[in-house]
Amino acid sequence: MRLAVNIDHIATIREARKSDEPDPVAAAAICELAGAQGITVHLRGDRRHIQDRDAEILARTVSTHLNVEMAASPEMVRVAQTVKPHQVTLVPERRDELTTEGGLDVLLHSSNIDKTIRQLLDAGIDVSIFVDPDLEQLRQCQKLRVPKVEINTGKFAEAFARRVSWSAELEKVTTAAKAARKMGLGVLAGHGLNYRNIDSIAALTDIEELNIGHSIVARAALVGLERAVREMVSLMKRI
Ligand code: PXP
Repeated sequence: MRLAVNIDHIATIREARKSDEPDPVAAAAICELAGAQGITVHLRGDRRHIQDRDAEILARTVSTHLNVEMAASPEMVRVAQTVKPHQVTLVPERRDELTTEGGLDVLLHSSNIDKTIRQLLDAGIDVSIFVDPDLEQLRQCQKLRVPKVEINTGKFAEAFARRVSWSAELEKVTTAAKAARKMGLGVLAGHGLNYRNIDSIAALTDIEELNIGHSIVARAALVGLERAVREMVSLMKRI
């Protein structure tokens, strides 16, 4: 199972002062040297953390795999066509949300998502969709012929933190990952994963890659980025 590190919050620290440090480009290089097999950034409509300049430079400098999360909007498709990351993950986006709040509803927004997938694939960019662990959503992803899905582990992580019915949420993720793989989709997962809840998700053999951001950057603020990434990589390997 590969680890992709989401470095948005390195840029959050920079944007807190609208300065030029810390640079997410330097952070990406450190993550890769520490064993990350991918770098993820979320280019939000309000550019609250990652800026276009970051995505442009990262697309040229990341030596593993650059995944850019974005809304399925014409503006973002244009950016992706210019920046050409290895992969785009389509996510829902609300201006006043603190972080992505749930999976993209591919049933509700089917025709727009279909068009966006085709535009990105035509530009030579791999595409993934962030979805809730829901079989109907996954079947629709299969119908739309998207190559990959990222299963939302947010509900599992919330339940784990509260220690209530988290095994039921884990079961949903497990079932969804298995079903998605059977459908021939590439299976990624992420949201809310941390050093305490990683074990049960890292044990799921149907998942190829995890996207982890906040917990790694939070630990990095105290122990350093290289150590924070190495510790997560080793927890994922231990299973
Ligand atoms: N996957 C998606 C689609 C996300 O939007 C995010 C948050 O940017 C993550 C994974 C990473 O979540 P976290 O920061 O909670 O690890």
